[in-house]
Amino acid sequence: MNVTKHDTFPITLPIKKIIRETPHVKTFVFAYDLKSRPGQFINIWIPRVDEKPMSIAYDSGKGEFWLTIFAVGGMTKKLHEMKAGDRVGIRGPFGKAFQYEPGDHLITVGGGYGAAPLYNLAMEASSKKCTVDFIVGARSKEHLLYTDRVKKIKNTKLHIATDDGSVGVKGYNTPILEKLIAEMKKTVAGRKKLKKTIVFAVGPEVMMKRVSDICFKEKVACQVSVERYMKCGFGVCGNCCLDDTGITVCTEGPAMDHKKARKNSDFGVAHRDAVGRKHLY
Ligand SMILES: Cc1cc2nc3c(=O)[nH]c(=O)nc-3n(C[C@H](O)[C@H](O)[C@H](O)COP(=O)(O)OP(=O)(O)OC[C@H]3O[C@@H](n4cnc5c(N)ncnc54)[C@H](O)[C@@H]3O)c2cc1C
Ligand code: FES
Repeated sequence: MNVTKHDTFPITLPIKKIIRETPHVKTFVFAYDLKSRPGQFINIWIPRVDEKPMSIAYDSGKGEFWLTIFAVGGMTKKLHEMKAGDRVGIRGPFGKAFQYEPGDHLITVGGGYGAAPLYNLAMEASSKKCTVDFIVGARSKEHLLYTDRVKKIKNTKLHIATDDGSVGVKGYNTPILEKLIAEMKKTVAGRKKLKKTIVFAVGPEVMMKRVSDICFKEKVACQVSVERYMKCGFGVCGNCCLDDTGITVCTEGPAMDHKKARKNSDFGVAHRDAVGRKHLY
């Protein structure tokens, strides 16, 4: 374990800009060279409130990074009340990033705020001559995240699914993945491409389990982003251990090969809260 100063002590940063994405989601922009890779996370701290892990939604590599945050509970609602110029504590970046090679074909499957870290991945991959099929799902049109930004990424095709059919395909986003794989299997060129294809899933764990099941059956490479209740962020407190392997998600993940995630009996089934109690998804 290589623990650095910014793992243990937060740096305090002013919020440079706040972008409203949807009625419950805002993107917080910070002017700081985080030196992160897509798939990693930071811990964001509001003094006297709480500290929470958040995926990195974008890192320009030139002194700016973004966090895209749903207002769901105590800490995130407080964060949504903050203004540009207010300061927060940041620790990290932590954890493992997504893995791929220049020229690979990526299929990303995002649900909820998962679209944001997958945008980060697609931006990096497109600069490394990769092609990307970007699948995103949401309850309805107004809850979709990052679609306008994704449309502008080179070599990237956007596929949308909404539960109510207000835009894109009606229903879940996973049938789009099945269709893309089936189409590629039909042609020689597609079959060749499928060998260099990696599926990346970020979103609700039940969705990621479904993506993993499809990839397992179709023998397509797949990586998922596992989330557990995190405290330290660097492998010391043991709060983020998976059942039954006991691996710490903050250091062995969040981004991991789906076969590694599948070795744990709780993947797609249950997670533990702040005091270790088990909750079913
Ligand atoms: C690796 C990782 C990346 C994440 N990335 C994002 C992101 O990009 N955007 C985003 O909006 N949220 C993200 N989250 C979730 C975020 O950390 C918070 O859990 C969530 O915002 C709720 O915090 P809260 O205090 O507002 O709500 P709370 O009232 O504390 O909790 C609401 C729910 O979140 C769960 N939860 C609370 N704290 C944690 C924690 N530390 N780890 C895991 N689950 C927790 C609770 O069990 C509860 O079900 C991420 C979580 C992890 C583990
Ligand atoms: S959050 Fe402490 S070990 Fe993972």
